[in-house]
Amino acid sequence: MENKEIQIGLFGFGCVGQGLYDVLNMSQGLEARIVKFCVKDKNKKRSIDASNFTYDKEDILGRKDLDVVVELIDNANDAFEIVSRAMKNGVNVVTANKKMLAENFSELYKLQQENNVALIYEGSAGGSIPIIRNLEEYYDNELLSSLSGIVNGSTNYILSKMQFDNLTYEDALREAQENGFAEADPWLDVAGYDALYKLILLIVHAFGVILKPEDVLNVGIQNIRIHDIYFAREKQLRIKLLAYARKENDKIRAYVLPHFVSRESELFNVNYEYNAIEVEGAFSDKQMLAGKGAGSHPTGSAVLSDISALTYNYRYGYKKLKKNGANGTAEGANGIVEDDFPLKCYIRFSNPESLKELDILSIEEEYRSAKTNYVIANVSFKSLFNLKGNKDTELFVCVVED
Ligand code: HSE
Repeated sequence: MENKEIQIGLFGFGCVGQGLYDVLNMSQGLEARIVKFCVKDKNKKRSIDASNFTYDKEDILGRKDLDVVVELIDNANDAFEIVSRAMKNGVNVVTANKKMLAENFSELYKLQQENNVALIYEGSAGGSIPIIRNLEEYYDNELLSSLSGIVNGSTNYILSKMQFDNLTYEDALREAQENGFAEADPWLDVAGYDALYKLILLIVHAFGVILKPEDVLNVGIQNIRIHDIYFAREKQLRIKLLAYARKENDKIRAYVLPHFVSRESELFNVNYEYNAIEVEGAFSDKQMLAGKGAGSHPTGSAVLSDISALTYNYRYGYKKLKKNGANGTAEGANGIVEDDFPLKCYIRFSNPESLKELDILSIEEEYRSAKTNYVIANVSFKSLFNLKGNKDTELFVCVVED
């Protein structure tokens, strides 16, 4: 692919697709052109001429002259079909679809090996932050012990707006959507699914293990109320939705949960749509990578960097995954995840009966008033799975760090 203009077939022209188009036009270094844009909605008003668009995916997948297929659509099932077809045709693929990647990782890993093609996806986690390539390449021989990060821009934006401007959760969510940070289905953001999918990808490249999204806990901020922000503020803490993974003695503790973060933490000042991932290694100790985690141009820039990487035949080496052998498949990862341990949490509720949804091991503090009730308690981690994807629960849970 060297020394010639790269021919791109693009699926999707939403927030990130438009971002890629803009940064591609403004960037100086890369000789690349989107030769066809495939989109779904014929009636949507778009910023470029209609003659650029096709509504038939065969107009891209059926072509033999494209160097790369870039997949930036919302629907994860359609995306998986597009990406697998392109790979089977021997075409390199760039995607930012974390849901599609996390839900089908073993299959996509196999397709890369079988068809000898690259599938790269820097834009899928941390937006503009070059985290995946760094975990894969820079930390390839480093014994990483943990990663902890803010990997969802929408929820961080909502939490910051509630924290600094006293906005209600609903108003802050609306602003996050207007700014193009949120997923088409914002439940994926607020319930912690988007962060979960990104965590699954980070774990592949940090620890060489493929976990299934259903086996990893995610609890989001959908039940947060201003009282929780007041509680944090009073104690000079901030609430952050963290994606967390720690590897110890061949066991991985992994989850997405709201946390109270203190001023001493590097993550305390990561606000609005900014993301940051702190990695800890045996030799390097703690390091943090930070940047804009959502939005049209920041994510478009990560996608552009992936396209550019293909010009020097870059592909992920999956060294850690290969080293782990059988454990490098989702099936082989059974038993790797630490499934139960006590976790100290703040739990806010209206109806005391709701606490029965969790297995509470011991209560350290209890507060009741006409406005709000909470306990600070040690909870069985396993029982927090009762809150995963649960639209009926009223509980807001936030990890209290010792
Ligand atoms: N909805 C995602 C977020 C977009 O808010 O972080 C970037 O992946």
